[in-house]
Amino acid sequence: MKVLLLLLFSTTSFASPFVQSVARQELIAHGKMAYLNRCAGCHGDKGDGLGPGAKFLDPKPRDFTTGIFKFRSSPLGTLPSDHDLMNTISRGIPNSSMPSFADVPEQERFAIVEYIKTFSPMWNDSANFAPAVIGAAFPEEDFKDFSKFIVRAKKGKELFVESCVLCHGDRGYGDGEGAVDLQDDWEQPIRPANLAKLTIKSGKSVKDIYRILLTGVNGTPMSSYKDVYSDDALWDLAAWVLYMRGVENGVYDLNKLPIPLIQSQSIATEIKDK
Ligand code: HEC
Ligand code: HEC
Repeated sequence: MKVLLLLLFSTTSFASPFVQSVARQELIAHGKMAYLNRCAGCHGDKGDGLGPGAKFLDPKPRDFTTGIFKFRSSPLGTLPSDHDLMNTISRGIPNSSMPSFADVPEQERFAIVEYIKTFSPMWNDSANFAPAVIGAAFPEEDFKDFSKFIVRAKKGKELFVESCVLCHGDRGYGDGEGAVDLQDDWEQPIRPANLAKLTIKSGKSVKDIYRILLTGVNGTPMSSYKDVYSDDALWDLAAWVLYMRGVENGVYDLNKLPIPLIQSQSIATEIKDK
């Protein structure tokens, strides 16, 4: 509590730089203790991703000293916001061994975030920060109304064939011709995501798919498509990814597009919420 109060105080314009730095140091000390306790087994005491558990894991725990973070609201090549890091820690990373820490008190998670940011000098250079990429507003009606959804998914399929099949394969399994021998920036082998699964690493809703298309996955061959397609067309692509997920889970028929297996207004929403 003391830490939090100091922090609140330090963010007012009346706080002296001295108070600010004392507050930050206390927060970081608190974060360090929690980090060593909960995270170092995988991410290492020094944040280099070389904890004792790391050698058994695939994908490897993140090396925080490089300042490269996959899941962000900010543009490709920039640092995540505190909110992005809080999200990752709270949610965990599905399809990897990174657990969810949702039951750790919020204040403690916040302190850990501050501590993680001490591992790389990248955090000291304002050139590495950028505001969140916004994109186009969620066209909710088009994802609720089945016939409108199908129009978007069909357009999205064309873009998917053009730009994504190479790595993700025509059904989204992550088995395209270009999927072999891919490496990430940490020189580890990496596979394209299996998009037919009910969740991607950064979340389970269609908005998470959309955000990935806008921001890409830092440190991997998964790029940002913000400058390739219009912000609106990226919703078409997201609809197609959702559709493939539906096919895999018995809701749509891939070969009979646009004829749905089950006629239901709410299918898209149901899948989105799973
Ligand atoms: C059982 C091992 C394990 C533990 C314990 C663990 N992590 Fe992770 N963490 C991972 C793995 C593996 C990844 C990489 C997943 C990937 O790249 O797909 C990861 C990735 C991350 C990332 C990177 C997200 C991004 O956008 O690139 C952050 C941040 C993170 N962990 C924070 C933490 C914090 C904080 C703790 C402790 C509260 C913690 N982790 C505990 C295994 C672990
Ligand atoms: C050069 C190969 C390549 C291309 C081309 C590519 N991807 Fe990916 N994609 C990847 C890899 C590799 C990952 C896995 C990243 C990871 O697990 O850290 C990925 C991950 C994803 C994810 C999941 C992100 C998450 O949070 O787990 C989505 C969604 C995605 N890609 C969609 C697309 C779409 C749509 C296109 C086409 C516009 C596309 N990708 C083009 C390689 C590629």
